Amino acid sequence: MALLEQIARERIHTAIDQPWPAAEQRRYIEQQSPRECIHLAETGEGELLGYQVLEQYAASISSMAHVGQLGTYVRTGLRGQGIGRRLFEATLGFALSRGYRKFVIQVRATNAAALAYYQSLGFTVCGRYTRHVLIDGVEEDEVLLELHLAQLPLPSTSA
Ligand SMILES: CC(C)(COP(=O)(O)OP(=O)(O)OC[C@H]1O[C@@H](n2cnc3c(N)ncnc32)[C@H](O)[C@@H]1OP(=O)(O)O)[C@@H](O)C(=O)NCCC(=O)NCCS
Repeated sequence: MALLEQIARERIHTAIDQPWPAAEQRRYIEQQSPRECIHLAETGEGELLGYQVLEQYAASISSMAHVGQLGTYVRTGLRGQGIGRRLFEATLGFALSRGYRKFVIQVRATNAAALAYYQSLGFTVCGRYTRHVLIDGVEEDEVLLELHLAQLPLPSTSA
C-alpha cells in the first residue's frame, strides 16, 4: 500500500492515480488464481523494495489464457539498480511454468523509464491508445507493448 501510494503520489508513472484501499488490495490478492502472482523484492530484513504483478489478460476468455499482463513498481530512490530486472526473471520463470506464451503491458506515453525498462526486457511497441488517461485534468496516451516469451532466452534459476 505504502509503495503504491508513493508511486501514485508521484503522478507521472502509472495510470493508477488513487491507490486501492488495503481491504480491496487484500481481496485482489485472495482472488488471484493459481496462474497469477505477485513477486516481492525485499531486503534480508523484509523491507519491501518493489513488486511485480502478473495477472491473466482476460481470465474469462480461454482463447487468451496464454496472455499475461504485468505491473511493476520499484521504490523511488532504488530504481535503476536492477530490481525490476530481477523481478521480471522471477515472473518469467513462474509464467513459463504456468503455460503463458505472451505478455502485454500498457505504459503512459510520458513514462520514459518504464518504456525503456520493458523494451530492455524484449517488449516491442504494438499500438497506442490516444488520450486514454486523464490525470489532474491532463489527457495522455498509453503505449501498448507485447512480448512473445518464446523469443526469450531461458530465465536464470538464481532469481
Ligand atoms: C519502471 C521500473 C519498474 C523499472 O524498474 P527498475 O528497477 O528501475 O529497472 P532496472 O534497474 O531493473 O532496469 C532494467 C533496464 O531497464 C532500463 N531502464 C530502467 N530505468 C531506466 C531509465 N530511467 N532510463 C533508461 N532506461 C531505463 C535499462 O535498460 C535497464 O537496464 P540497465 O540497467 O542494464 O541499463 C521503475 O522505474 C518504477 O518502478 N517506476 C515507477 C512505476 C512505474 O512506472 N511502473 C510501470 C507502470 S506501467
